[in-house]
Amino acid sequence: MAREISCLQRARASYEPKLPKALRGGSIKIELGASTEPATDKAEIKKLFPRTYGQSEAKIVADTSDLPTAALNVGVVLSGGQAPGGHNVIAGLFDALKAANPKSRLYGFLKGPKGVIKGKYMELTAEVIAPYRNTGGFDMIMSGRDKIEKPEDLAACQDNLSALDLDGLVVIGGDDSNTNAAVLAEYLASNDAKTRVIGVPKTIDGDMKNEQIECSFGFDTAAKTYSELIGNICRDATSAVKYWHFVRLMGRAASHVTLECALQTHPNITLISEEIQEKGTTLGEIVDYIVDVIVKRAEAGKNYGILVVPEGLPEFISDIKILIDELSAILGKKKDYLQQLGDHSERLQYLSSELTAHSAQVYSSLPTEIQAVLLVRDSHGNVPLSQVETERLIIDLVSDKLREMKAQGEAKDVKFSALGHFFGYEGRCAAPTNFDADYCYCLGYAAAQLVRGGLTGYTVNVQNLVKDPDEWVAGGTPVTMMLNMESREGKSVPVIKKALVDTSGKPFKELAKHREKWALEDEYLFPGPIQYFGCAEVCDRPSLTLLLEKA
Ligand code: FBP
Repeated sequence: MAREISCLQRARASYEPKLPKALRGGSIKIELGASTEPATDKAEIKKLFPRTYGQSEAKIVADTSDLPTAALNVGVVLSGGQAPGGHNVIAGLFDALKAANPKSRLYGFLKGPKGVIKGKYMELTAEVIAPYRNTGGFDMIMSGRDKIEKPEDLAACQDNLSALDLDGLVVIGGDDSNTNAAVLAEYLASNDAKTRVIGVPKTIDGDMKNEQIECSFGFDTAAKTYSELIGNICRDATSAVKYWHFVRLMGRAASHVTLECALQTHPNITLISEEIQEKGTTLGEIVDYIVDVIVKRAEAGKNYGILVVPEGLPEFISDIKILIDELSAILGKKKDYLQQLGDHSERLQYLSSELTAHSAQVYSSLPTEIQAVLLVRDSHGNVPLSQVETERLIIDLVSDKLREMKAQGEAKDVKFSALGHFFGYEGRCAAPTNFDADYCYCLGYAAAQLVRGGLTGYTVNVQNLVKDPDEWVAGGTPVTMMLNMESREGKSVPVIKKALVDTSGKPFKELAKHREKWALEDEYLFPGPIQYFGCAEVCDRPSLTLLLEKA
């Protein structure tokens, strides 16, 4: 019996993602531009990537003669956190391969990069893909956070790719996964293996972007989903008039999601980590700023409000950043020893002797749950920030400060009752907006052309995204040009540089222009749920970040 689906799923199944003119025509060619190099660390990166260093930018253009149309075998893998639209990347890839040659075959590696290492896969046929078109989630083939790094893993991948006789492998992932794709591309090229590796820029965090990659997919849908929820909370706050809501938003180190949600909803307080870092603002100063707004609003009779904070904030507060770096260096050398220690108090004691005096004091002042999370690293060396309850920490510190003030006869009008929220997993698998559905399909379609063109070590790009999809232009960016050397767990490694919020950029300036007014007035906006049917202004508008950046 067919699985029951919702009315919306049924209606969305018939949505046909739009493709740019150049990809619709059938025959295309790949134009290679100038050769490229990374902005920094050129010599080290060249040494690590001798075969794929210095490749040229690529552009896919319509042409009278076509790329080779021989049947191809291609693999695809989803890597890292879920992002709306991943299924459409796979659908676009499949449709493009079949359009060029119906005998081409697509294989999906299961549960992320581990599937490539272990050779676990399934063939993706039209029937398998059909129910997933225009849906959120990565459940078609699932995802994982493993890293293809050890020599034995790279060798296992090569064996598994050649066992399937793959011409190409498409890695759908964020900055770390695209870096990993480049490592694999280099390894395969240096062994003269035939499989080409192409990356696709995925992450709701919005931090994988540069001049060529205008945004990562999934950001648009996730930020709009959170904005709906924040708008609903704004409405509740002005109805109940008795709560302050502290909302932490997903997005890892970068504050793009928080900034976009703030522009969409106009909360009273928006914390942007990058600004805090630039100004060297301390945790105490952040608390003072929040308390000041709370007191001023209370004096105007408003004991309610909304604050939004990026999950990455702890990494940007100078004391905590230094602490995290010191902990990473210790973990790089003594991880096994730390894990052996029986309980957290023993670990605390050991770390106090290894950390500098100031960091030891900062570490011991944090709640135990946060201390424990700061000792965890994912396979790419990142702290799992989604597990740090920053909103609770801020609520506690603000409450303490208000209590002190009241004891001294200040803040008399304030009645502070706060609720904490975390919006993260709620948005990562939402049904993609029209923008993400079209963008992802186009990314997949373009990835197939790069494989057909024989390129390797590239990430697909689609430009002109604020224009009508007809005018979008697809191509490829050599991964090596996006790399820089960074310290991860005490080791210097090549990684794609994360794009953080630019405080001199238009999206941030838009927030800065209005935030004083938004703090005291109730200028909330209520974006409502993502719409799929209706006028283009309601259904197709890209994120405000993208619109402002490209204005
Ligand atoms: P990617 O960087 O892999 O796209 O992951 C994004 C993200 O959603 C972050 O915003 C969040 O901090 C993290 O994943 C959560 O990780 P996990 O899924 O392992 O809980």
